[in-house]
Amino acid sequence: MSDLEDEMDIDVPSKGITFTSNNTAKGKRSAANLPVEAEDSLPWVEKYRPVSLDDVSGHHDILATINKFVDSNRLPHLLLYGPPGTGKTSTILALARRIYGSENVRQMVLELNASDDRGIDVVREQIKTFASTKQIFTIASSGSRAGIAAYKLIILDEADAMTNTAQMALRRIMEKYTANTRFCIIANYSHKLSPALLSRCTRFRFSPLKERDIRVLVDKVIDEEHVKITADATDSLVRLSKGDMRRALNVLQACHASSTPLHPRDGPRVPEQDIVRETITTETIFNCVAAPPPDAIKKILKTLLTTSDVTSCLSAINTLKISQGLALADIITALAEELVKLEVKPQAMIWWLDALAEIEHRVSCGANEVIQTAAVVGAIRNGVELMG
Ligand SMILES: Nc1ncnc2c1ncn2[C@@H]1O[C@H](COP(=O)(O)OP(=O)(O)OP(=O)(O)O)[C@@H](O)[C@H]1O
Ligand SMILES: [Mg+2]
Repeated sequence: MSDLEDEMDIDVPSKGITFTSNNTAKGKRSAANLPVEAEDSLPWVEKYRPVSLDDVSGHHDILATINKFVDSNRLPHLLLYGPPGTGKTSTILALARRIYGSENVRQMVLELNASDDRGIDVVREQIKTFASTKQIFTIASSGSRAGIAAYKLIILDEADAMTNTAQMALRRIMEKYTANTRFCIIANYSHKLSPALLSRCTRFRFSPLKERDIRVLVDKVIDEEHVKITADATDSLVRLSKGDMRRALNVLQACHASSTPLHPRDGPRVPEQDIVRETITTETIFNCVAAPPPDAIKKILKTLLTTSDVTSCLSAINTLKISQGLALADIITALAEELVKLEVKPQAMIWWLDALAEIEHRVSCGANEVIQTAAVVGAIRNGVELMG
């Protein structure tokens, strides 16, 4: 045995691990190829990643259209774009499973994401080689799936991170191999993609998920994982996740973990049904996402609107900031949400929103927090003075 082998600490998978599918592509770990045993310790976002298109919440129109394309065997090149955690990657993986069946996905789909190098070399070599070869083997061996699509799918996830030259090189490849390949480009921002690439694809925008769509999965997870949570806390969780399902699930998992009592490592394993957990409340959720609690914001707003003495306004807001550990950026967001609910003269409202937007920008650029806190007080008081 060489020295190298002696010293290396190699993770050998324990014997007898069974895989949920036989898709073991090149170290990739998507929901389709996880060891069954690993599912227990998985982040919930992976454990509850949609398997089929029916499991994807929301986006009904997009799913209906894509389904029609597949049914009529006329899948165009696709571009899915939109904010994080809205189900783009999940949708395309489920689509690939629907088109090819999970047993064929490995041969028919090339998935490249931001963790892979996707410079010009990859486009020239890997994508071109994959696109230019026909897949005779799969079609012949899948007698049971007579209608299997004859084209392959190339998924370019997080394509906005691709270099410009690589995007340019893709244009010709996309056209040349359309006979036996479809491209699916996924990005957060469509403006970072080359216009020529955009015009070759049918575009679908994944908008932030509606609260009711998030609730569907959140309720399912609460039920299956036996999470102890109050109804109010679920409402706040769904609202605070702002259309991002990944965020909702991550916060829920973090709160669930923090509500579970610690057990000594070497002690006996406590059976799941005997673990006594604390109930997750609205406060737990707000603490977890580091959002200012509504009471604190109401208090700050009341002081700012009713106290004409600027110094005492400033000390009230600073005391609350310190005692609750609030960040100014979060206070500004929450204040703006509360201010728009007030019925005041338009001039005052315009002043407030404009001034808060300015201050938020300065804070995000790293301006001094103490001075910007004073600016918030000044802006709100100015609006109040405008109301007369
Ligand atoms: N529409 C949805 N229906 C069901 N689950 C969803 C949906 N959107 C997101 N999720 C959950 O959030 C996780 C992340 O989703 P996904 O990876 O598809 O997001 P994404 O849109 O690709 O985000 P990013 O732009 O950050 O890559 C999934 O594993 C799934 O658990
Ligand atoms: Mg993604």
